[in-house]
Amino acid sequence: MSRIAMDSGATVRQAFLERFGGLPDVVVRAPGRVNLIGEHTDYNDGFVLPMAIDRAVWIALRATSDGHVRVHGVDVEEEGEFSLSAVSDAGPPAPGTVSQGWLEYLKGTAWALMDAGHELSGWEGTVAGDVPMAAGLSSSAALELATACAFAQVGDLPWDPVAMALLGQRAENRWVGVNCGIMDQMISACGRADHALLLDCRTLVGQHVPLPQDTSVIILDTNTRRGLVDSAYNERRSQCESVSAHFGVEALRDVTSAELARRAGELDDLALRRARHVITENERTVEAADVLATGNARHMGELMNASHTSLRDDFEVSSEALDVIVECARQSAGCHGARMTGAGFGGCAVALAETAAAAELARSATAKYRKVTGHTPQAYVCTATDGAGSAPSGRLT
Ligand code: GLA
Repeated sequence: MSRIAMDSGATVRQAFLERFGGLPDVVVRAPGRVNLIGEHTDYNDGFVLPMAIDRAVWIALRATSDGHVRVHGVDVEEEGEFSLSAVSDAGPPAPGTVSQGWLEYLKGTAWALMDAGHELSGWEGTVAGDVPMAAGLSSSAALELATACAFAQVGDLPWDPVAMALLGQRAENRWVGVNCGIMDQMISACGRADHALLLDCRTLVGQHVPLPQDTSVIILDTNTRRGLVDSAYNERRSQCESVSAHFGVEALRDVTSAELARRAGELDDLALRRARHVITENERTVEAADVLATGNARHMGELMNASHTSLRDDFEVSSEALDVIVECARQSAGCHGARMTGAGFGGCAVALAETAAAAELARSATAKYRKVTGHTPQAYVCTATDGAGSAPSGRLT
């Protein structure tokens, strides 16, 4: 598990002191993420290129001996508690049920760990974070990985980032009831400072790709959130699965652009466009990792622009707000490219720009967007950080 510098952990540490008295045994942190390219490819066994960001979920905690987890949610100003044996006995809700509320992520992670054979101990702690919720920056995966990290610390569990990411995904799929792919949990667990991660979502083999010098990543939050994202997401998943079944392959990852072009006549227009997005996005993502590694930010920006067009026109998961903010970013001097990021239908866009131009891009793109749409956006110039990790409380004071 990586050791990380603390500063945003100050909030949870202070809250711990006030709520529970004394110092926590440990403080853990798991980051949110922004995906640079490779959207809606993870559940097609394809490639993604996200980075962990300097916004995270933090937990300050202390071991207890009563087999309970007792938490204070600092941001939501709520208390929560559950018994590990009750979670293990009850098991996950019936398939198709969606469990609401932040505590469910903790329970789901506890269940997934116990179901995988880990012996868990109880703890009490404070939770806080600065990953905006429902914005497409993976606040849920961050909470799952921070929880896993908390259990790993108090129970002295071996920390295997890939295994923990898979358990986080299992918690989300089976307990929370959201049918996500593996990208978010993998990058929250396996991120590396100053690098993006080219991840093969079939083999889960990752390659850390250094970000080009003098290049910054800017997240632009449209401040729009659309309901029914889950049903639209599931619909896209099943459309992709139908095409791969038609081609007799395991996943769309196994089809090339050339094959799709040759057999295009077998598909209706909608199926063709959905498949074309996934297949071309996989190709762009592999190419993006190469061009990033050579420091060619301009070419990377072109691939991001092409990704947005494909998500907008072929996969149809963009929104008017996302299209506008992407356009506003591209009009700024020094912008290499911009696209929507995450599941879509609202939430955030990501832009790549010369570092010297990043602050001005954030200012001008948000000002233009506000003028056109009337929404109040947020912009974050962010850096790539390490994945989930801990620091002993002694180092935090
Ligand atoms: C959400 C899911 C991910 C991935 C993206 C789209 O963030 O949680 O698994 O499918 O959407 O790329």
